[in-house]
Amino acid sequence: MAARRGFVAGNWKMHNTLAEARELMKGLREALPKELPVDVAVCPPFTLLYPMGREIDGTAIKLGAQNTHFEAKGAFTGELSPAMLKAAGCTYVIIGHSERRQHFGERGDVLRRKVTAALAAGLGVIYCVGETLGERDARMTMGVVGGQLNEALVKEMDASRVTVAYEPVWAIGTGRNATPEQAQEVHAFIRSRLALTFGPEAAGGMRIQYGGSVKPDNAAALMGCPDVDGALVGGASLVAGDFARIIEIAGTEARRHKGTQGEGTKGQRDEEADRR
Ligand code: 13P
Repeated sequence: MAARRGFVAGNWKMHNTLAEARELMKGLREALPKELPVDVAVCPPFTLLYPMGREIDGTAIKLGAQNTHFEAKGAFTGELSPAMLKAAGCTYVIIGHSERRQHFGERGDVLRRKVTAALAAGLGVIYCVGETLGERDARMTMGVVGGQLNEALVKEMDASRVTVAYEPVWAIGTGRNATPEQAQEVHAFIRSRLALTFGPEAAGGMRIQYGGSVKPDNAAALMGCPDVDGALVGGASLVAGDFARIIEIAGTEARRHKGTQGEGTKGQRDEEADRR
């Protein structure tokens, strides 16, 4: 079994003013142990990156952004480059979230360029994939997810810095999560596809998070699956107690089902070291 470290990230989406975010982080610091059982990141809106970087100072929590542009600089009004995110304290960036695909038309070439640029800037990437309800009902899940992986991830990339988040669109913000069997089936498929692109050894070390209505009461069943290495959490990451509980459960499941907590791959350790 590859030594994958569990990884739980909170995607705040377009939520929280500065005052609300400080309150949330205070609650999180109080609720979490100093030694975190898995890798943990919070992904606030852009305006909160810098102040949240200060809030996590002295903790093992890392910072992620929710999007990036693919160019290093230039006339792209309203955009931010990967280097800017890195300078603001980010360790990670989410790319290809279904809300970006759905509302902002992101796909294919754009996503591949974003992943390439983010990795080149030294960021870890959380690359999101997932099918709509119509696609699942039409038995297109694997085709859609496979296509989303192929459109953005290519073998030249440093796989150890890429996390894939499987987020079925029908489970996001709906309170309706995938069953552990559904999640495991797609996660295993994703790992097999990653093995085709990056080779079995690299694929075995890559983290695959589940996302979509993850809450404290369903987290254990989902993260108990062998190929579910953590969670990308939306709504529940806005409640300090719930997010802390999900992190705790992720640690328990990592130890229980996957042997001792892995040290992670070299790329994952580099990300850790970057923050020190
Ligand atoms: P919810 O946890 O609110 O369903 O959101 C999931 C998500 O989209 C995380 O990126």
